[in-house]
Amino acid sequence: MVETSNSFKRSFNDKEKPVEVRQSNIVSAKAVGDAIRTSLGPKGMDKMIQTANGEVVITNDGATILKHMSVLHPAAKMLVDLSAAQDVEAGDGTTSVVVIAGALLGAAEKMLSKGIHPTTIAEAFQRAASKSTEFLTEMSTKIDLSDKDSLLRAASTSLNSKIVSQYSNLLAPIAVDAVLHVIDPSTATNVDLKDVRIVKKVGGTIDDTELVDGLVLTQNVVKTSGGPSRIEKAKIGLIQFQLSPPKPDMENQIVVNDYRLMDKILKEERQYLLNICKKIKKTGCNVLLIQKSILRDAVNDLSLHFLSKLKILVIKDIERDEIEFICKSTGCKPTADIDSFTEDKLGYAELIDEVQTSGVRIVKITGVKHNGKTVSILIRGANSLILEEAERSLHDALCVVRCLVKKKALIAGGGAPEIEVSQRLSEYAKSLKGMEAYCFEAFANALEVIPVTLAENAGLNPINIVTDLRNRHARGEKTAGINVRKGTITNILEENVIQPLLVSSSAIELAAETVKMLLKIDDLVSIR
Ligand SMILES: Nc1ncnc2c1ncn2[C@@H]1O[C@H](COP(=O)(O)OP(=O)(O)OP(=O)(O)O)[C@@H](O)[C@H]1O
Ligand SMILES: [Mg+2]
Repeated sequence: MVETSNSFKRSFNDKEKPVEVRQSNIVSAKAVGDAIRTSLGPKGMDKMIQTANGEVVITNDGATILKHMSVLHPAAKMLVDLSAAQDVEAGDGTTSVVVIAGALLGAAEKMLSKGIHPTTIAEAFQRAASKSTEFLTEMSTKIDLSDKDSLLRAASTSLNSKIVSQYSNLLAPIAVDAVLHVIDPSTATNVDLKDVRIVKKVGGTIDDTELVDGLVLTQNVVKTSGGPSRIEKAKIGLIQFQLSPPKPDMENQIVVNDYRLMDKILKEERQYLLNICKKIKKTGCNVLLIQKSILRDAVNDLSLHFLSKLKILVIKDIERDEIEFICKSTGCKPTADIDSFTEDKLGYAELIDEVQTSGVRIVKITGVKHNGKTVSILIRGANSLILEEAERSLHDALCVVRCLVKKKALIAGGGAPEIEVSQRLSEYAKSLKGMEAYCFEAFANALEVIPVTLAENAGLNPINIVTDLRNRHARGEKTAGINVRKGTITNILEENVIQPLLVSSSAIELAAETVKMLLKIDDLVSIR
C-alpha cells in the first residue's frame, strides 16, 4: 500500500527530470564556453573555421567563431546568442562574455548539487551582477571625447588581441578618426556605425589601409566608350531605371522580314535611348551611378556611347545596399524613372576620380555635400582571409570607440577589473545572510576565470599569477593586471591596456542574465 502511494506520488512530482534537464543544459552550455576559452586575450589562439560550402574563415573574434559553430543543443545556442547580444551591445568582449557565462554555470552546478534551489541561485547571481556593475563604475575613470589619446589606447587594446595586432598603430587612429568624424564630440551620446562604411579590396597590404573623407566605390568607371574618368564639381545622379531597350513582359518573339522595318526598329531604339540620355544631361548631371538590375541590362553599349559623347562619367553595377550610404554622403536621391529625374535629385561632390593603388582601381568621391556625416575606410590586404579578419577587427575597434561615446568611462584591462570586482563582491558577501551570501561568494570566485584564462593562454602559471594578482589587489593596487609581455603582474595602465567600462559591465550583466535563464528551465519540450 505504501509503495503504491509512493509511486503514485512520484509520477506527479517527478523531481528527476528537471535535474537532468538542467544538468544537460549546463553541460552543453559549458562546453561552448570551454571551446572558445583558448582564444581570449592578446596571446589567445585563433580558430580556423571551414564552412559547409568549403569556405575558410580564420578569426579570433568570439562572436564570429560562435556564429559559425553549428551547435545543436538549445542551451548551447543560448550562449551563441549571448555572444551576439554582446556584439550588438558593446561590439567587443564577445569572447569574455561566453567565458564568464561558462564559469558562472560551473559555479551554479556545484551549488545545485549541494541542494540550493535554482531560483535562489539565479536571483542571487542577477543581484551580484548589478552589484558588480556598481563596483566597476566606481573603479572607472571618466574621460572626455576630446581626450583622443585615451580613445586611441582603448582602440589599440581591442586590436591587440587580434590577428592583425601588428597593425594596431595604423588601425586604431583610423577607427578613432572615423568615429570622431561622424559625430559632434561635444554633444554626441551614440554613434551610428552605418555612417562609417568599410570597403574591402584585395591587393596591397594592410599598411595601405586608409581613411577616406567621402565615398569609395569598388566599381570601376566605364571607359569602353571613351567617357571621362575624372570630374571636378560633380553633379551626381543615381538611377534605378535601365538605359537599355524595354523588353516585353513575357517572352515574345518578333519576326521582322523587311529591311525597312528592321531599320525602323533600330532607329526607334536609338531615339529612345538618346532621348533619355539627353534628359539626363539637361538636369546638369555629369556623373551617373546606375544601380545593378536583375531584369535586364542596366545599361547597354549604345547608351554608354551617348553618355560618353555627352561627357557624363558612368559607374554601373551599384549594389542595392550601397544606395543608402551613397545618398547620405552625396545628397543625391535615387530615381526610379526618367520623368522624375530632375535637378533637385542630384548630389554634389568636389571631385570624383578613379585612382590606382597597388594594382587595383577604385573610385574616390571626395568633398561630398554632406561632409562630416559619413566617412569610408578602405581596407587593403593580400588575400581575402586577412582582409575579412581585418574588417572584423576594425569593427571591434570602432565599437570600442562607440562604447566610449555612449558611456564615457574607462577601466584597466588585463584581468584587473575582474579580480577587483571579485574581491569586493566577496567582501560584500560577508554583509549578507544565508544562501545569498554563499551565492555571491560563488559568483565572485567565478569571475576569476578571466585572469586565469588570460594567464593560461599566455603560457603562464595561472595559480601563481592569480594568487599574486589577488594579493596586489588586496593591498589596494587597483590597476594591477597581467602583463603578458613580461609574464608578471604590473600596473597595467603603464602598458596602456585599457578598455571601455561598457564592455566589461555588459559582459558580466549579459552573462548573468543568460545563466539565470538557463537555470530557470526545468523541462525541454521538442515539437516535431
Ligand atoms: N596587452 C594586454 N595585456 C593583458 N591583457 C590584455 C591585453 N590586451 C587585452 N587584454 C585583455 O584581453 C581580454 C580581451 O580579449 P579578446 O579581445 O581576445 O576577447 P574579447 O574582447 O572578450 O572578445 P572579442 O574581441 O573576440 O570580441 C580583456 O580582458 C583585456 O583586458
Ligand atoms: Mg576584444
